[in-house]
Amino acid sequence: VQRCALGLIGWGTVGGGVLDLLARDGAVIRQRCGLDLAVTRIVTRDPGRARTQSAAGATVGTDLRLILDDPAIGTVIHLVGGTDVARDICLACIAAGKHVVTANKAMLAVHGDAIFAAAAAKGVGIAFEAAVAGAIPVIAAVRDGLVASRITGISAILNGTCNYILTRMEVDELSYTDALAEAQRLGYAEADPTIDVDGTDTAHKLALLARIAFTARITMADIRIEGIQNISFQDIESARTMGARIKLIAAARQRPEGLELRVAPTLVPYEHPLADVSRNFNGIHIDSVAAGATLLVGQGAGALPTASAVLADVVDVVTGRYQLTSSRFNFFTTTAPLRLLPETEEVTSSYARFQVPDKPGILAGITNLLSQHGVSVQSIHQGQPDDRQCATIEVVTHPLPGGSFLTAIEAIDRQGLTIKPTVTLRRL
Ligand code: HSE
Repeated sequence: VQRCALGLIGWGTVGGGVLDLLARDGAVIRQRCGLDLAVTRIVTRDPGRARTQSAAGATVGTDLRLILDDPAIGTVIHLVGGTDVARDICLACIAAGKHVVTANKAMLAVHGDAIFAAAAAKGVGIAFEAAVAGAIPVIAAVRDGLVASRITGISAILNGTCNYILTRMEVDELSYTDALAEAQRLGYAEADPTIDVDGTDTAHKLALLARIAFTARITMADIRIEGIQNISFQDIESARTMGARIKLIAAARQRPEGLELRVAPTLVPYEHPLADVSRNFNGIHIDSVAAGATLLVGQGAGALPTASAVLADVVDVVTGRYQLTSSRFNFFTTTAPLRLLPETEEVTSSYARFQVPDKPGILAGITNLLSQHGVSVQSIHQGQPDDRQCATIEVVTHPLPGGSFLTAIEAIDRQGLTIKPTVTLRRL
């Protein structure tokens, strides 16, 4: 049995999960691959905070040097949230010659180029399975398992908090606020749940996944992002009448003209496998030429599921397997310019629900603006006005390129034709 000393930076939900998992099932890792993994040093902002896990004999402190200066530690588990401070810490670990295992998708989506370049120059690994879809080994699946199969599209549910909220709203008729509070209580949400519900967290994960799937340098600015903040019971009901569920879907599709990247609340028909991925589960549906359709489903958030992926990476790194393969993969280093499809070239059917005052000219105003932006309407329906003379207009567009759907919606809201922000959904 090979003993392996690890440094842990960050003792929050996932850091605690790593300590818990090692205490519970360290023996399983020992049995499976002859490694005795031990966190020997922990650096955290608040060592004194009351916690449910014990440090299991590790030295705990606030100074990064505690880990950087320890020659016995070759691999650091980096569980620091945010982007800039997290990057600085990560670069300091690399400079000290440590391999880094991280769950921080925001840091890699925003600063990946600098971090991957620094790691390559220093000859250390940056492993990040836990950064995308928690316990699901999707990075390994796309990078290794599907390496021979050209990927044409990915549709994925990558945020447990959003999926949990949407499921509880649909199934248990919980309000959005109550469902979010519950997701926070269960440890799925980010420290600031705004980035869960506004789609940013999903986009971070899509940037990483698409980087590997398409060997492309993808920045956050390349992804059009819509969140679930404005989804209401009425939308969920409308989806039901269309035989669909609302999911926050990350989509990447390689078209002959370029790559389409988007995060948006999406109508997923009941017959699509992602429609049954509920609660905090994540699901990734990958279309590839040789393998056909592949579906991965599992726990995408939470302490132990994320810790499971972290420790899988640790095993990969300390056995040397990761360095062997990762140094061969071009997605770390690619700077090739990417042809991204502008919104006007997307081929996506969309849905919009407008809340409008029931007076003459409103419907005409909406359809005018849609046509001015090249959006072709497939169906339109106006419900009965309520007792405050407020009516609902629902529009479904054709899946034709050439329209600027989101720009049209913005213009409609800006011109005061609506009395609430318009809800938009895409259709899978
Ligand atoms: N906040 C994330 C989620 C955690 O809800 O999926 C995993 O990245």
